[in-house]
Amino acid sequence: MRAATPIGSNRDRAAARTWLAPRYPTLGDERRIIITNGTQSALLLFLRIYAPIGSVILAEQLSYGVLPNLARTAGVTVRGVPLDGEGMIPDEFERLCREASPVALYCNPTFHNPTTSTLSAERRAAIAAIARTYGVKIFEDDPLGLLHPDAAPPIASLAPEVSWYTMGMTKCMAQGIRVGFCVIPKGIDLSMQLGEVGRLSHWLASPLAVALVTEMIESGLAHTILGEIRDECQRRQELACDLLNNFAISCPPRSMHLWLRLPTGTSEEQIISTLASQGISVRGSAQFVADGGGAGANALRLSLSSPGSIELLARGLKQILSTLISANRAR
Ligand SMILES: Cc1ncc(COP(=O)(O)O)c(C=O)c1O
Repeated sequence: MRAATPIGSNRDRAAARTWLAPRYPTLGDERRIIITNGTQSALLLFLRIYAPIGSVILAEQLSYGVLPNLARTAGVTVRGVPLDGEGMIPDEFERLCREASPVALYCNPTFHNPTTSTLSAERRAAIAAIARTYGVKIFEDDPLGLLHPDAAPPIASLAPEVSWYTMGMTKCMAQGIRVGFCVIPKGIDLSMQLGEVGRLSHWLASPLAVALVTEMIESGLAHTILGEIRDECQRRQELACDLLNNFAISCPPRSMHLWLRLPTGTSEEQIISTLASQGISVRGSAQFVADGGGAGANALRLSLSSPGSIELLARGLKQILSTLISANRAR
């Protein structure tokens, strides 16, 4: 620990490359990898470098719930790119590139949080090309990518010179580890670009946590855990889809979330508060609106991974089902 290297030693970064390889086999030199204490820190570093105070960034219209907080912290404004059933619509991304002169795009194209959609290879290529044309930097967040080995390669791999790609350990290894791997463009001198933040420690991963992660990857334990997480996700997803299949749900195999569009005439706020009174916590679409305001999509996001056991999940899902049936009857 005395010799800890702030962004990870060569050995740590080689282990990180092994971990990322199934999703990003072409990342090349492991010196492109920096290790941080998670995705949020990596995103704040990215914004610090590319998004001056007062600038505009884009994100999927529904996005990671803390994005508005991170944007406020960085002093930037977020504009939401409209989505369809597959995810971000490239033509809408291009329209906003013309209208809003954004400096960057935050995106989560694989098992998108909250809608669970995954972008096709064609859309990824279109988004990479548009970002290049308009000089927009990309931050691709892929916390669930390893649960979806068949997803198309990252957008970042199609435009590596303008992209940061981050995979935190929270979802596919262990939430308490607080380590994230971030692939930055080849040849950038991070310490020069970060200025004084480069000398601060708030974004650095604990050397002990990094040593643990490196050991777990090298020994194969991390892959065993990942396999078990994948299997558990599959079981939970099958259970949830069986119970809720009469509703408009999106929940692909191994997804950690289920997205449920509510029938017209039922309101997400009402259902959320009814469920809360029964001790069940679900999120509504309004909590994911990228610009922090505006209307949601009248939908719920159920976190299938939060309950401590599949039995507890089954109990909660049955209560959700009966609440939805009663709300439907009362319309
Ligand atoms: C979209 C998204 N990105 C990243 C993360 C993880 O962030 P971190 O690596 O900071 O724990 C989460 C949730 O845990 C998430 O939902």
